[in-house]
Amino acid sequence: MQIISTRQELTAFAQACQQQHKSIGLVPTMGALHEGHAALVKKSVADNEVTIVSVFVNPTQFNNKEDLAKYPRNQHADAELLASLGADVMFAPTPEEMYSAEEMKETFRFDFGGLDAVMEGKMRPGHFNGVVQVVSRLFYLAKPNRAYFGEKDFQQLAIIHFMVERSELAGTFGDLRIVDCPIVRDKSGLALSSRNARLSEDEKKTALHISKTLFASLEWAKTLSVKEVEDKVIETINAVEGLEIEYYAIVDQTTLQPTTTFNNAIGCVTVYCGQVRLIDNIKY
Ligand code: PAF
Repeated sequence: MQIISTRQELTAFAQACQQQHKSIGLVPTMGALHEGHAALVKKSVADNEVTIVSVFVNPTQFNNKEDLAKYPRNQHADAELLASLGADVMFAPTPEEMYSAEEMKETFRFDFGGLDAVMEGKMRPGHFNGVVQVVSRLFYLAKPNRAYFGEKDFQQLAIIHFMVERSELAGTFGDLRIVDCPIVRDKSGLALSSRNARLSEDEKKTALHISKTLFASLEWAKTLSVKEVEDKVIETINAVEGLEIEYYAIVDQTTLQPTTTFNNAIGCVTVYCGQVRLIDNIKY
């Protein structure tokens, strides 16, 4: 596996693959890789002749400096895992390599057709601008035929689909297809996340109540209204010592707007477990 750290090298690599008519799979990540990422990489390796994995903690998508500083980083272990999975390239640039000083100042503004007005977009102003800024740049550099994203970040996935299919950038990424990949959970049900590395053993046990409550809500949805299920999820999670809900919203999977029926609905949650901000979701 090659480790590439400059945009120029990545462009040259992608161009050479294109000239040889090799299909390219891209897995964008922020590193601290776990089995959830491994599932994306395995799928890309199975689907494409070449797999590029980016490992880049993107500063422009963090609206909280402390969160950025504390984001787990482990490039050596990431490289070992990616090589063992059969990835061809790990792209690990510095922020200065990715952005000019101007771009670093969050000047990028993008229209998401309202998809960013709720949930993560509402709680983390500017977050999705940063995500689209880095993901669109990675698409231009790596020229993928397919790009792989996890459904744990469901709103991010909806916004990336919007960018590629319906925004002003649609059509600028060649024949790129976005591949949605299911949430990977550990044996106890906890959704895998790089942020789990910051949880103590006790906090991991506490965090289990998040997925447990979401799964229970599938049963509650059989007899209760959307509003009643939302309230019960919030009440149940907040009753656990050490957990504090930031939001729980049952929304339409396509528009991400609040819904009053369970048709095509998804419940998205953000919870603080101690200092660690965790997200999860469940489809009804
Ligand atoms: O989901 C993530 O890890 C990040 O938001 C992404 C897509 C790699 C962009 O930095």
